[in-house]
Parts: sequence; structure tokens; C-alpha cells
Amino acid sequence: MLGQVGSGLAQLVVPALVGQSSTGSFWLPPPDSVASGAVDHAFHFVMYVSYFFFALIFGLIVLFVVKYRRRPGAEAVKTAKSSLALEATWSLIPLALTIVMFYLGFVGYVELRSPPERAYEISVLARKWSWQFTYPDGTIDNNLHVPVGEPVRLVMTSDDVIHSLSIPAFRVKMDVVPGRYTRTWFQGKELGTYDLYCTEYCGTGHSDMLASVVVHEADDFRAWLKAAGDVLGNNPPAKAGEILFRRHGCGSCHSTDGTPRVGPSLQGIVGQTHAMADGSSAAVDENYIRQSILEPGTKIRQGFRNQMPTYKGRLNDQEITAIIQYIKSLN
Ligand code: CUA
Repeated sequence: MLGQVGSGLAQLVVPALVGQSSTGSFWLPPPDSVASGAVDHAFHFVMYVSYFFFALIFGLIVLFVVKYRRRPGAEAVKTAKSSLALEATWSLIPLALTIVMFYLGFVGYVELRSPPERAYEISVLARKWSWQFTYPDGTIDNNLHVPVGEPVRLVMTSDDVIHSLSIPAFRVKMDVVPGRYTRTWFQGKELGTYDLYCTEYCGTGHSDMLASVVVHEADDFRAWLKAAGDVLGNNPPAKAGEILFRRHGCGSCHSTDGTPRVGPSLQGIVGQTHAMADGSSAAVDENYIRQSILEPGTKIRQGFRNQMPTYKGRLNDQEITAIIQYIKSLN
């Protein structure tokens, strides 16, 4: 444990001393986006200044407690006088430090708020509890795929409540609000897969509201986009259904292995008869699944709440048929 902290501190101090930190540190993941450096500089500066004053202030407290403690025979004497030099010192030094902090923060903020003119634009839709990324050609995926070395702008909105998109490795975090669009941008520097989180508590499934950011080589990205574009044409129905199920984030609420989550598991449900919350019962067939996708409020399983958003207008009939095929294949 101590060794971990030690190597963490070394990782932290050494890059700061040599002025770069490409491997990440004890506190921060690798800064793999172009604007990450500015955030890290501000963070490290504030942290080292805090370390210094923490040590100085607590050191003096301990020193004074020992040195000026009450002892038998010692008399209390008041010798304090005002000192302009001392007061100016402890006012001007913090002033200078906070100006530097403001400057570092402001530079980073401006960089994070101003995407370059020619950025690749991806629409983001957040809903309870999944992410949906729509590419310029209409392809939809629940993970964010981007080309390396190209600025990417996200234009984001929410279907229900306030969510927040955060990609720690890119030092990007922005609220996603219903009824308006917010924007953020980044430019991946390294190939790889990164975590994307929702960082605004948005209900039961908040902690499942995860996605990956996959940074591809430019050519691989175009190839991925081409293959991902025509799911129904490129796959047999059950497989296409599985891809659509994943893309639309169905899996964050419905497991396929029998475990109940926010919603019931879909394993083996076709052909079963389920008790409903209103006391009735219903047999699960194609029409039941279709109705549950388009009008999720009409039949609520016993033990679950009416939480699912409708997919009317988001999935067409062919796609719904493919998803039904996939759910049947789970039997
Ligand atoms: Cu969406 Cu938390």
C-alpha cells in the first residue's frame, strides 16, 4: 500500500518536474486528448500550492504549540504589534498565486470551450439509462467511435432528465440537458478504448450509464462506420436484433441472463405468461414485445415500475422485428 502511494507520488512528481505527463499519474488518467494538458497544469499547480501551504501552516501550528506552550513560572506577555511588511507579504503572495491559478484555469477553459472550425460532429442523446451517438451518415451506436487526431464536436441533448457526459482521459465533462443543446469537443491523441461515464445522478440506473470511447485510425474509423451503417443488410435478423438491442442501450435495464435489473430480464420470456402490476396476466409473444417497445407503459410486469421510455419513432418495424427475433433466440 505504502509502496503504491510512493510510486504514485513518484509518477506524480517526476512528470511535473520535467514538465510533461504522458502516462497519467496517481491522481489523473493519461491525458490522451489535445486539451488535457491545460487541465492537468491547472490541477497540478493548485495541488502543489495546497501541499506547500498545508505543510507550512500545520508545521507552524505544531511548532508554536510546542514553543509557546504554558509552562510553570512563565508569564503571559503580549508583544504583538502590527507589521505592514508581514501583512503585505501574506496578502500579496496569495494574490499572485490565485492570479496564476485563474490564468491557468482560464486558458484551459477557453481551449475546452472553443472547438476548431472543422470538427467532426456527432449528436449525443442521453436517456435513462443509456447513451446514443448518431453519426453524420445516420449510423447510431451506443459507444462513441472517433478517428484519431481529428477534432470531434459533440452536440448533446437529453430525452428525460439532466445527465452529464464525462470522459476522464480526455478531461471532458459537460451537462446534457433536456430541451436544449450543449456542446463539448476533444481530439484523441492515442489509439485505444476509454471510459465514458454519466456524472450526474439521474436515477436507479445511473451507475449503469456507461459507454466506451473507441479511438480508431482514420481508415479503420471509416470502415467501422460503413459496416455499422447497415445493420439489417449485413446481418441475419437475430444478430441484427442483438446489435440494435446493444446500440439502443436496452441492455442497461434488461439483462439477457435472467438477472432482473431496472427492468425484467429478457431471457426465456417468449411463451411465458407473466403477472402484471395491475393484477392481470399476459402471454409474451411478438405482439407483447412490440407493444412493450412502442408503448412501454401499457403492460407493467409485477415487481417493476413504469420507467421505460418509448421507442416509437426511434425503431422502425424491420428493426423491431429483428429485436423480437433476438429476444426469441434467448429462449
Ligand atoms: Cu445519466 Cu447519471
